[in-house]
Amino acid sequence: MKWDAIPKVCFTEHATPLQPLTRLSAHLGGPMIFMKRDDLTSLAGGGNKARKLEYLAADALARGADTLIATGATQSNHARQTAAAAAQLGLGCALLLERRLENQPVEYYRSGNALLNRILGATLCKELPAGANIAAAVAQLEAQLRQQGRKPYVIAGGGSSPLGAIGYVACAHEINGQASDQGIKVDCIVHAAGSGGTQAGLVAALCREKLTRVLGYSVRFDSNRMSEIVHGIANQTADLMDAPPVPGDWIEVDDKHIGDGYGIATSEALDALRLLGRLEGILLDPVYTAKAMAGLIADIRSGRFSARQNIVFLHTGGAAALPAYASCL
Ligand SMILES: Cc1ncc(COP(=O)(O)O)c(C=O)c1O
Repeated sequence: MKWDAIPKVCFTEHATPLQPLTRLSAHLGGPMIFMKRDDLTSLAGGGNKARKLEYLAADALARGADTLIATGATQSNHARQTAAAAAQLGLGCALLLERRLENQPVEYYRSGNALLNRILGATLCKELPAGANIAAAVAQLEAQLRQQGRKPYVIAGGGSSPLGAIGYVACAHEINGQASDQGIKVDCIVHAAGSGGTQAGLVAALCREKLTRVLGYSVRFDSNRMSEIVHGIANQTADLMDAPPVPGDWIEVDDKHIGDGYGIATSEALDALRLLGRLEGILLDPVYTAKAMAGLIADIRSGRFSARQNIVFLHTGGAAALPAYASCL
């Protein structure tokens, strides 16, 4: 099926802006940096999950579901945006969260996305310890809800199923249209990669044209594992669109900016976060976008990107988690 014939619920009615970051570009003295503002999508503060949820929620409704099940870390943006999507559609939202970080300040467990989940009416069914068997816990919760007469719809981690990734096929086409309107040839789109669906969708759309590369800065897995995940979802997404498989050399992942692990801020990321705030008035987050921005800055300084290039930094959201990181900012 053609990607634009796949049923969706419309959560964000407008295209998100593609805007030049002139002050940051001048400051770094490298390529021209544009930002694709997917932090300005809908669903209780915006972020990349809104585009994925447009397709996933449509599928849930078509199947007669009355409850969305989402998983993620304590400060998951995906959980918060799923809670908002469920509220908007009059569905229930059951969350299973993984406490990947212990011994954090109290605000880490109570504020940011954790607070928003409560306001949005999601039910926190369980908080599992780091490394727990999430798939088994999801299966158990699904069975429990069915026993209670509910009709649950399980969403893949981070919304990163092939259907969710169609949201980023749509985004790639949106960027192409905006770049062409603005007379820009985009050399590379860079972004934070976590569960892989964002990169998979972008690559599945862009590898056909062989013009714009995509580089994912991993915030969780090493490059090999992340590439395998992205490639797997990208091929399934291509299949969904009746397109040929995605060539392996189109999957580019950089794992050098993860630092001590998922959700643990690095000093380079915090510097990047402050830099964007002070130069551009734009909020990044310490878990995803600031690590990706730290990667882009390092790659500009090392010469990986030249001054003649145009780079699009895809802002995937995440600022809702900032209060949870108040003690390191
Ligand atoms: C703010 C933010 N940026 C980037 C990502 C990574 O996107 P993906 O999971 O599609 O790789 C996520 C989700 O995990 C996120 O919440």
